[in-house]
Amino acid sequence: MGKTTKQLAKLSEGESLEDFVGPLGTPADIRKLGTVILVGGGVGVAPIYPQAKAYTKAGNRVISIIGARNKDLLILEDEMGKASTELYIATDDGSKGHHGFVTDIMKRILDSGEKVSRVVIIGPPIMMKVGAGVAFPYDVEILVSLNSIMVDGTGMCGGCRVTVDGKTKFTCVDGPEFDARKVDFVELMNRLAMYRGEETKAVEKYEEECRCGLH
Ligand code: FES
Repeated sequence: MGKTTKQLAKLSEGESLEDFVGPLGTPADIRKLGTVILVGGGVGVAPIYPQAKAYTKAGNRVISIIGARNKDLLILEDEMGKASTELYIATDDGSKGHHGFVTDIMKRILDSGEKVSRVVIIGPPIMMKVGAGVAFPYDVEILVSLNSIMVDGTGMCGGCRVTVDGKTKFTCVDGPEFDARKVDFVELMNRLAMYRGEETKAVEKYEEECRCGLH
């Protein structure tokens, strides 16, 4: 049975999961490109971190921009600093770094005239959508890593399907990285919201069970 994020967060060192599937999909295309901007929002900083290390190892100038709602929710700051050539921070409430969005900093760098070969954006779908829109007019490749709902993770159930360049793709097999200019973000966000009612009920049930001492 799957676990909610709250359940996962409660696990202690030494506890285990029933099962774990991955890695899924195709490997990230990481090679020497020149200057790469990596943008991570919220828990999206976690998958951006290994990319920062890998792009740096491949010989790129890596400009990382990480953000969260506030400084307490910011993760991997030290690690990202070590893995990147430059690190910028943004928080929605201004408690650390730039008061605003990661995409504000990305735009500033793109506007500076520095030649940037690729932008990789990983975070909440709305952040990736907005980020892709901001970077759209610039002469730069834009990649996003999609987090659609997954069930089997092997390309059979169709749960993770997304529309890219007018074609159906399975995130678990064809992704997770796609050309942001071609992704139908509206459909992605609608599909992610499909089970919101059930998800809310599952969390409420779990919290009730916690109150009753069942967890
Ligand atoms: S999760 Fe089922 S097809 Fe991708």
